[in-house]
Amino acid sequence: MNILFIGDIVGKPGRQAVAALLPSLKREHHLDCVIANGENAAHGSGMTTATAKELLAAGIDVITTGDHVWDQKGFEEEIENLPQVIRPANMATSAPGRGSVVINIGDKARVGVLNLQGRVFMPATDCPFRAAQTEVAKLRRQTNMIVVDLHAEATSEKIAMGRYLDGQVSLVVGTHTHVQTADEQILPKGTAYLTDAGMCGPHDSVLGRDVNMVIRKFVSGMPQRLEVATGKVELCGVVVEMDELTGLAQKIIRVRIPYAL
Ligand SMILES: [Fe+2]
Ligand SMILES: [Fe+2]
Repeated sequence: MNILFIGDIVGKPGRQAVAALLPSLKREHHLDCVIANGENAAHGSGMTTATAKELLAAGIDVITTGDHVWDQKGFEEEIENLPQVIRPANMATSAPGRGSVVINIGDKARVGVLNLQGRVFMPATDCPFRAAQTEVAKLRRQTNMIVVDLHAEATSEKIAMGRYLDGQVSLVVGTHTHVQTADEQILPKGTAYLTDAGMCGPHDSVLGRDVNMVIRKFVSGMPQRLEVATGKVELCGVVVEMDELTGLAQKIIRVRIPYAL
């Protein structure tokens, strides 16, 4: 079973790159399942029903999110009608939406996806480790093939989660920093790991945003509108081959593909 996980999709350029590149990626890597973080898919911040549907129609099976999930007005209600879109499981128990999902791949196979959010340099949430323990136990009753997106800032917290879940899930991958790391590996007990998948968005930018606007914000210290940048896009992510019985990883390949709009 081969899955592709794509890092934070940023705005329209990111969505267009996904739609354009996914068919050839599916052929090249014999993909059975595609998961992507979509927290920046709607104009760089948050998600809407329309952007979610656009990404699902482009061939994504599950969309994870993060700290920007509620940035678009009304999405806290819309998420209830989008079962393939999940938000961090360790948000308040009263938060709308769900933190994990299990999808069917063909007749027999099932893949579970769990979304978590870190607590280091991030908005307050419940403990991601405790949430991981509960949710992974729940998912493992349905499938051994489990992908975990830990949406977090700190490398240490992400590596610790990888080690904490090693042998229990197929992949622990980080999102949120928008910068891909080069530490892909299969951990000692068989879980694939990558600290950050990177983003799918405009490369000539600061994390997908217009360079001059971001510099102006830092230099002036004043509020500043941050538009999504234009120009060449990069789709960043990771392909993992997993054993259908054990769920453990057999291969992990980092992908970083340029795309000119
Ligand atoms: Fe993001
Ligand atoms: Fe984020």
